Amino acid sequence: MGGRSQGNSNTYNGIPQRVTLNHTGSTQRAGACGDRTRGEYRLTGLGAGRLVGDLEPEPRALGLQGQPGALGGGVAEDIAQAFGGTWKGKKLGSIGSTGCFSFFPSKNLGGFGDGGMVSTNDDQLNDLMRMLLKHGGKDKYNVDHIGYNARLDTLQAAVLLAKFKYIDEFNDRRRKIAELYNDGLKGLEGLVLPLTPSSSPLTDSCHVYHQYTVRVLNGKRDAFQKHLSDKGVSTMIYYPFPLHRLKVFGDGRSKTFGSLELSGKAALEVVSLPIEPLMKEGEILFVSDAVKSFF
Ligand SMILES: Cc1ncc(COP(=O)(O)O)c(C=O)c1O
Repeated sequence: MGGRSQGNSNTYNGIPQRVTLNHTGSTQRAGACGDRTRGEYRLTGLGAGRLVGDLEPEPRALGLQGQPGALGGGVAEDIAQAFGGTWKGKKLGSIGSTGCFSFFPSKNLGGFGDGGMVSTNDDQLNDLMRMLLKHGGKDKYNVDHIGYNARLDTLQAAVLLAKFKYIDEFNDRRRKIAELYNDGLKGLEGLVLPLTPSSSPLTDSCHVYHQYTVRVLNGKRDAFQKHLSDKGVSTMIYYPFPLHRLKVFGDGRSKTFGSLELSGKAALEVVSLPIEPLMKEGEILFVSDAVKSFF
């Protein structure tokens, strides 16, 4: 494994872990790419998740919402927030060399605790990953690699299997809630609603709205968030710091290419409204009214 990874700088801060926790790595360069031994990362402001291996001359762009990790010499899709989403008729997680899923409780398909899954259609990677998740070998007392203890707990698997039956229904409901927000909040000056598949350059994509994220312009995001909180509506910021501003990349430990001003701007403008499949119409209206009363 090893190679070079590149990704959007406005993303989940797990990216540095995934870049640096490279077990069998040859050289690790990163964009957010890291050579742990040299303590140096290279950050780019690309809009799409990309990951390339040493043998690939050019990055392969993947226009997905998620970001890449550092597994293997291909594209690693980050499906943590996108379980059940599709692109050009293909389920996310079946497009890249690997798909990395999170079953953290708040996710579209979430367990009662931590868990995750990696998908692949590459036999070699499959073999390697199955070893890594069980301490690094087929024979656990004589391992081939330095691995993890990363088995999915049986209790979590039971919960996930029970919830799995409802994932399509729940994702449909998330899309319905997003539609209600889109209708209720359109036309407000200073509020930018999320792109919909029909308004987005990514036609043929099917969104599963893990988050419904809006942008509040003109430096008013924090006041907006306080306004909603005063009205009893909680919101979250995903993500308050772009990668290049994380402490881990400070002190000259990163190189950025370009100003990355768009990710800096996004960090100051984005805010995610409540979205959850079991939300009732009245609750959606309540949130919409609270939002409207700010503008
Ligand atoms: C986009 C994204 N990628 C990766 C992760 C990490 O998932 P986990 O905490 O299960 O490792 C998260 C978690 O919130 C996420 O939102």
